[in-house]
Amino acid sequence: MTSKPRDLETPRPAGRLGGIELSLIRQINALATPLSTNLGIGEPNVEPDETLRELARRAATTSWHYSPNAGTLSLRKKIADDPNEVCVTAGTEEALYAIFQAYVDSGDEVLIPDPGFVVYATLAKICGAEPVPYPLHPPSWELDADAVLSRITPKTKLIIVNSPSNPLGAVANRRALEAIANAGPLVVSDEVYRQLWYDAEPPSMRSMSRNVIVIDGMSKSHAMTGLRIGWALAHPDVLKPVITAHQYIATCASVFSQCLAEMVLDAKEWNASWLERVRAQFRDQREVALHAIERDLDVKLDPPAAAFYAFVPVPSCDTLTFAKTLATDAAVLVIPGVAFGINGEGFVRISYAASNDAIGTGIERIGRWLRAAGR
Ligand SMILES: Cc1ncc(COP(=O)(O)O)c(C=O)c1O
Repeated sequence: MTSKPRDLETPRPAGRLGGIELSLIRQINALATPLSTNLGIGEPNVEPDETLRELARRAATTSWHYSPNAGTLSLRKKIADDPNEVCVTAGTEEALYAIFQAYVDSGDEVLIPDPGFVVYATLAKICGAEPVPYPLHPPSWELDADAVLSRITPKTKLIIVNSPSNPLGAVANRRALEAIANAGPLVVSDEVYRQLWYDAEPPSMRSMSRNVIVIDGMSKSHAMTGLRIGWALAHPDVLKPVITAHQYIATCASVFSQCLAEMVLDAKEWNASWLERVRAQFRDQREVALHAIERDLDVKLDPPAAAFYAFVPVPSCDTLTFAKTLATDAAVLVIPGVAFGINGEGFVRISYAASNDAIGTGIERIGRWLRAAGR
């Protein structure tokens, strides 16, 4: 005979999650209805072609057992000349989490871009560390090395750099990156958008100093967001604690995804043409977005150099309320700039990872709403 479960109280979450909620991006996306035009999305509107699907079918027939914690040797050899410099992770995000767990203590300071990807500040807070924003300024959003270096204190444990940037689409120049790489503290260079460029290939921080961990993956370049495949690249001594943390988070990345990633990197000719096609598609969508932003919102933006985001000034200071109102009243989803830090206030992030129709319709709806509201 089974006994009836007791009516127990819901357990209290750990203090480290105090004040941490689902990101504003998720909160805005939760307002979507079937009629919404979604320009809030952070993933490519690209589907696998027949070759990629065939590679996935083949990947599914290989071993389903655990791989070494750092990833299969064969994949690591494809990612870097020295496989000891690679830890394959369940997406770039898990690489970030493992790095924070490996290096950041309570009381440390972590320098983060503002505006910048929401996860950096949250991960610092989860570790009990203080996120210290370094500002980026419109209209170029150029990374200013001095703005970073001047904020280094004895407590600075980690500096986060994200080029190309989410939410800005901006690319940092090599000189600024070199100065930051050699400043002293450990640097994490989030390069997950580096393949999605339009004019010139963005510089990588890889090998700029022994103190740099580059993180990258196939979520954005290969539209494999749900397959959770990424990696961290660093000197073996710097990587060792990251592999230890990764073992206790994920054991290893999905072996199916690892195998697929290896096949993608092996298929050099196909891969080069895939990346060309993806860039061409986003270049085209960028044109449509910039044209609509100028026509409907009366804003002429410098074309973002990479990724698939336009960070657009709007005549409203509380952009969170603005984005929520747009979601409910105009059926268009954009992300309020303040979700990326206080320097993002006054802007919204429009993702052009959407069909040309959706980009045109969504931006037109924003313009119509603004005009109706007399803004
Ligand atoms: C700047 C940045 N870093 C990391 C990630 C996480 O990517 P992944 O899917 O590889 O975990 C994202 C996803 O939006 C991102 O925008």
